[in-house]
Amino acid sequence: MKALILAGGLGTRLRPLTMRMPKPLVPLLGKPLISHIIDPLPAEVDTVILAVSYMKDALEEYFRSHDVGRKVILANEDTPLGTGGAVKNVSRYLDDTFIAFNGDVICSIDLNDMLRYHRTHGGIGTMSLWKVEDPSAFGVVSTDARGLITEFQEKPERDKAVSNSINAGVYIFEKEILEHIPNGVVSLERQVFPNVLDRGLYGYGFSGYWVDGGTRENILKAQRVLLDLGGGKEAPELIKEDATICGSNMLQKAHIRGCRIGPHVYMEDDVLVSKGAEVADSMLLRGALIEEGARVRGSIIGPDCVVEKGRKVINEILARQ
Ligand code: GTP
Repeated sequence: MKALILAGGLGTRLRPLTMRMPKPLVPLLGKPLISHIIDPLPAEVDTVILAVSYMKDALEEYFRSHDVGRKVILANEDTPLGTGGAVKNVSRYLDDTFIAFNGDVICSIDLNDMLRYHRTHGGIGTMSLWKVEDPSAFGVVSTDARGLITEFQEKPERDKAVSNSINAGVYIFEKEILEHIPNGVVSLERQVFPNVLDRGLYGYGFSGYWVDGGTRENILKAQRVLLDLGGGKEAPELIKEDATICGSNMLQKAHIRGCRIGPHVYMEDDVLVSKGAEVADSMLLRGALIEEGARVRGSIIGPDCVVEKGRKVINEILARQ
């Protein structure tokens, strides 16, 4: 079976970090976002197709140097074709039922169970659904008693939303879906889903966690969720001198000295946090330097960035451009 991951977006909401690093390679607790999708794929998935465009060379290089245990095909779009156009563009690789993902979804979905559901319901596709309080920033669906989606609204006004079940960005499609995607730049959400409801598009709800990793707040939220689920650890090479560490964190081969770290901090190799500094709920990427007395909270500090002495960085993304 093939799995298709949409990984060609510009990632504008994560700028400036994504000026030099495509969103699928943004690290989440020691591995790129995209590996959080690839690793738990069902065993029957032997081939992963990545629909890429923005910074495709970086993705190519990553998969050349990392074996993810399955065949990986990178399908390039010279200009981004949108979520639907990206699916159509890989038609030649799709032969049967396939799984498709928005490349920035971090969730606990059980894909084997979703496949069973899809096979018993027998529609053209199954869309994963997640419940939220305010659905207005998402695709919203209503379903009937059998799970059949009866209405699909993309980003409705809050008081016009037909439910609080949203499109969670993981799908199982029959190959027939390709016949309903026109050529060119196409949005699955706006131009395809509303038009295939009569072919049988089912909704599959799940529980656990779901985060759309497209923003700073959400990536840090995913980091908190995974750390609280037991993802915290300290590398044996971590150098600690008189540092206070609170809560759950993942600290790699860094150097922390006379500072306060945590909770919910991810720190990569060669990070240095100096005396009197405080870091919480943040990601410090390789080679970041936090100088004396600086405070970092709710932030992503990109590779080799410096937070100068005494500076406060709260709810920001810092990255070299
Ligand atoms: P923002 O610019 O911050 O909105 O991010 P984005 O460009 O990634 O867009 P969005 O988060 O809406 O995209 C959802 C998923 O679809 C992401 O995994 C994107 O990589 C992917 N995606 C969006 N547009 C395209 C496209 O034109 N081609 C391909 N191949 N993937 C896309």
